[in-house]
Amino acid sequence: MSKIRVLMVCLGNICRSPMAHGVFEARVREHGLSEAIEVDSAGTAGYHVGAKADSRARQEARSRGYDLEHLRARRLEPEDFLEFDYILTMDDANYRNAERIRPADARAELLRFLDFAPQFGEHEVPDPYYGGDEGFVHVMDLVEAAADGLLEHIRDRHTLKAS
Ligand code: 4NP
Repeated sequence: MSKIRVLMVCLGNICRSPMAHGVFEARVREHGLSEAIEVDSAGTAGYHVGAKADSRARQEARSRGYDLEHLRARRLEPEDFLEFDYILTMDDANYRNAERIRPADARAELLRFLDFAPQFGEHEVPDPYYGGDEGFVHVMDLVEAAADGLLEHIRDRHTLKAS
C-alpha cells in the first residue's frame, strides 16, 4: 500500500509548519501508523531554505516532548501537489500563495490546518516570528489540537492498520 503523504505549509518553514510537522509525526508514531503516513513541511517563501527551525519553536516543542532538531526549511514547489495527498496551510496568505502555484493536475487536497481544530474558533495559526515566546506557546496549543483532528479525519477516510 502506498503511503498517505501529508505536507504542512507556512511562510518561512521555520516556525509554524515545523511545529505542525513534529507534532503530527509524533501522533502518527504514537498510533503505530508510521508505515502508513509520511509527514513533511515547507514554506511558501524561500528566505530560510536550509535553516533549522527557529530556536523558540524548537524550545517550545522540546518542552512538550517533541524533537524538531532534524528539520530543515525548504520551499513549497508545484511538484509537491503531485506527490502529496494532503497539503495543510497555516494561514490564509499561505493558502493563497499555495493555490497560486498549484498545477492543474494536482492530486493533493489543499486544506486549512485549523479547520481540524474548530473548538478554538480561530481560523489561522498566527505568525509568531516577530512576537514573544508566548506566541509559540499559543501556536503549539493550536497545532496539537489540529494534529489530533487531522489524524482522526485521515483515519476515518482511509483504512489504516497500526504496525
Ligand atoms: P513561519 O514564520 O511562517 O511560521 O515559519 C515566519 C518565519 C520567518 C519570517 C516570517 C514568518 N520571515 O519574515 O523571515
